[in-house]
Amino acid sequence: MPAHHLALTRAELAGDPVDVAIVANPPPGSLADLRGLRLIQSLWAGVDRLLADATVPQQVPLARMVDSAMNQAMAETALWATLALHRGFFRYAANQRAAQWLPHDQRRSDEVPVLVLGYGQMGQMTAKRLAQQGYPVTAWRRDAGQVPASLPGVQVATGEAALLAALAQTQVVINLLPLTSETRGILCAQLLSRLPTGAGLVNLARGAHMVEADVMAALDSGRLGHAVLDVFATEPLPTDHPFWRHPRVTVLPHAAAMTDARSAAQVVARNVDALATGRPLAHLVARYRGY
Ligand code: NAP
Ligand code: GLV
Repeated sequence: MPAHHLALTRAELAGDPVDVAIVANPPPGSLADLRGLRLIQSLWAGVDRLLADATVPQQVPLARMVDSAMNQAMAETALWATLALHRGFFRYAANQRAAQWLPHDQRRSDEVPVLVLGYGQMGQMTAKRLAQQGYPVTAWRRDAGQVPASLPGVQVATGEAALLAALAQTQVVINLLPLTSETRGILCAQLLSRLPTGAGLVNLARGAHMVEADVMAALDSGRLGHAVLDVFATEPLPTDHPFWRHPRVTVLPHAAAMTDARSAAQVVARNVDALATGRPLAHLVARYRGY
């Protein structure tokens, strides 16, 4: 989504107290000295940029966007990418550009194990849709203690050993992690080297999860057969970036799951109402863990 700033300019706000700041990645410093601030409500699901801004008041609760319409959109993007990787549709598109009539082997969905990194709002909806489609799904999360209702066809894993074991069996890895100090650069040579040759990578979370040079090297060595990339270290992706022209990279413009203004407005309104009436605020970010 395009970057939105505070609805009112700082000049308009000068002197007046502000109860709630409804923001989508405002420029660093924007929230530094708002008087009376009681809630920061993000219009984005990922709050890594807000958390990286040391001037955001630490004592003010920070809520992120959690909206089933957005989760659904993310699951659709992940499902499309997985189907296209599994059935070779990106290869057929390349074959068409070369006027090549070239049927590929056809695998069943139950022969294509998928690993979903992150089993939160986006990861759970995605894992469910993939499992319904017949893919064997492993979902990786941080906290073994918090077990959500189990979904048929989805195995939940935690810890590094389980991750390494899952990677060795994975045909498609989908990243839906938040960007934290623990997950920055997780899509690196070491992780990618655990995948079977020709596996697919789908990064729908944040560009800084990837070590871009390692992803490029894994593509060029054939370790990765294809990458679907929605997010990048620099956005918009610079026009001379090699990802744009790599024959086995599909680039999306950070559009995997955009904030839906209609449903997001209701999410925000519910939290503003909760603040006004003294009810618990929803979807608060745990700053200590970074998401
Ligand atoms: P969420 O509900 O907070 O879920 C995060 C998941 O990641 C949780 O399952 C969490 O584990 C897991 N996790 C966190 N740190 C981990 C670690 N170190 N090791 C293993 N698992 C870890 O977040 P969400 O709403 O699903 O959103 C995920 C991310 O998607 C956002 O942060 C954002 O970056 C990205 N996003 C991208 C787009 C787009 O258009 N491309 C749109 C929206 C969101 P626990 O369950 O154990 O806590
Ligand atoms: C988009 O990337 C979001 O975090 O909402």
